[in-house]
Amino acid sequence: MEKNNTNKTKSTSGRLQLRTKACIFDLDGVVVDTARYHFMAWKRLTDDLGIKFTEKDNEHLKGVSRIASLDIILEIGGKKLSASEKEKLAALKNKWYLEYINRMTPEEILPGTLDFIDDLKSQNIKVALGSASKNTPLILEKLKLKDVFDAVADGNSVHKAKPDPEVFLKAAEMVGVEASRCVVFEDAYAGVEAALNAGMICIGIGEKEILKDAHMVIKGLSEMDLNKLSDLEKRLGNE
Ligand code: BG6
Ligand code: MG
Repeated sequence: MEKNNTNKTKSTSGRLQLRTKACIFDLDGVVVDTARYHFMAWKRLTDDLGIKFTEKDNEHLKGVSRIASLDIILEIGGKKLSASEKEKLAALKNKWYLEYINRMTPEEILPGTLDFIDDLKSQNIKVALGSASKNTPLILEKLKLKDVFDAVADGNSVHKAKPDPEVFLKAAEMVGVEASRCVVFEDAYAGVEAALNAGMICIGIGEKEILKDAHMVIKGLSEMDLNKLSDLEKRLGNE
């Protein structure tokens, strides 16, 4: 994934006729590369538990809640644990994850994010966050992004994990936009499915092979602009 916040200016002058009224961004792996920190913390745990855990396995954890991620890992390792043992391991993983998160700075906002958000705001398009993470408030504080989003739906305010559409529907409701007028940006397979289950357009961030159900896939938000959004709307309108 691209690094360094070399946000290029790609503002589009004038007003476009866009159908989209809200863009909802996943956090981990879209706005910031915390997916890497999640992997590092899980890897520390799986090494302790003697479970072989690869980056490929990690793809199945993206977008999935903390406890559901641990369940997947234990299944990979063929281990069965009680609910209280699982709680302890999830808390340990989160303690390590927080060590990484607490060192984060706004420099880690992924390239193109802030410029694209500015472009959306110039068209009066609402900007919301839809993340499974309970650490969302801390991450937004570290990245100094707290005031950038019109609404934040996260793991503290929803109960059903992606691919359930709850988090995106909640974000849409918070900004007062109907689902069919929302576009979601997602890096996780489960997140793409959640967006589609919500009846929203989904732009995948990452690999086409993994995010094959998304309406369009880009490498990162630095590739995104209002003209591409307009072209996608036209293409989908014609399908
Ligand atoms: C998602 C991540 O955004 O949040 C998952 O993609 C993570 O990897 C999930 O498990 C929950 O995060 P947290 O911060 O509540 O443990
Ligand atoms: Mg993600």
